[in-house]
Amino acid sequence: MSETKKHVALLCGGWSAEREVSLVTGRDCAAGLRESGYKVTEIDVGHDLAERLRQVAPDVVFNALHGQWGEDGCVQGLLEVLEIPYTHSGVLASAIAMDKERAKALFEKVGITCAIGMVAKRDDVMKSHLMEPPYVIKPVNQGSSVGVFLVRKGDNRPPEALDDPKAGLGEEVMLERFIAGRELTVTVMGGTALGVTEIDPKASFYDYDSKYAEGGSAHILPAEVPEEIFVQACLQSERAFEVLGCRGVARADFRYDDTTKSPGDLVMLEINTQPGMTPTSLVPEQAAFKGISFPDLVSWMVEDASCQR
Ligand SMILES: Nc1ncnc2c1ncn2[C@@H]1O[C@H](COP(=O)(O)OP(=O)(O)O)[C@@H](O)[C@H]1O
Ligand SMILES: [Mg+2]
Repeated sequence: MSETKKHVALLCGGWSAEREVSLVTGRDCAAGLRESGYKVTEIDVGHDLAERLRQVAPDVVFNALHGQWGEDGCVQGLLEVLEIPYTHSGVLASAIAMDKERAKALFEKVGITCAIGMVAKRDDVMKSHLMEPPYVIKPVNQGSSVGVFLVRKGDNRPPEALDDPKAGLGEEVMLERFIAGRELTVTVMGGTALGVTEIDPKASFYDYDSKYAEGGSAHILPAEVPEEIFVQACLQSERAFEVLGCRGVARADFRYDDTTKSPGDLVMLEINTQPGMTPTSLVPEQAAFKGISFPDLVSWMVEDASCQR
């Protein structure tokens, strides 16, 4: 173990809706980094983050936060101000990726197919169908399927739960045509796609519980899809990573609708700039599939860290 290895401050927790997931990601990444010989100081992030970082004085920050503040460019901006190199995407890419509407506009510009949709006031969405069901209602800027609702054919109107503050939806929500079929995801590491995984949820709709519960969904790697779809998913993920100006590791989510024809249609949902690194996570699995161990993956992320917006 080298004594010259960097001192890493690992940021986790925070106060977003995804606090719990981040704590698990943080715990595992800290273990992986220590295994690689880094000195790691874990910081459960609060409003005094700048002060904490000044005390810890790390060489580099490993950002294991998810959701608002940690994933949307805010913490990245603070790290720029403090001039501490950090893992994952910079300020701009993080902020755009978190805003599903703006990210989709950029994806479409470079020829990536996204789900047809719109952003509307939650109050209006509650009153009547603004789109022909089936459609999906989700936050414009959240993650981890917090508050994703499916409005099925025959439903009179969107579910009452949409108004529940616990759903975490803002004044404005995103409506998208429901894309039937299968769920695919692609990790991009430093601009290169690692592979395609199919997520086969045991629940009928891929929700928060099935995503994070141990054994909640089956991961099929490599995904059993036609070769051309596999290649297309990789290329589109790399293109999305590039057009947003992502860094480090990110993960693109897709729907693949092969319910009416084969090959079917590939539709990109989003790119996650702070993908989960929990025991059931997709990124470490795809890295392992490529022969990159978990400690090697987190080491690569630390060595890739920078301050570049
Ligand atoms: N247009 C859509 N059609 C079908 N399923 C969708 C659609 N949008 C979202 N979903 C489902 O909800 C999940 C979460 O949506 P996503 O856009 O990836 O947001 P996040 O992961 O940030 O919560 C997806 O993985 C998918 O299972
Ligand atoms: Mg997603």
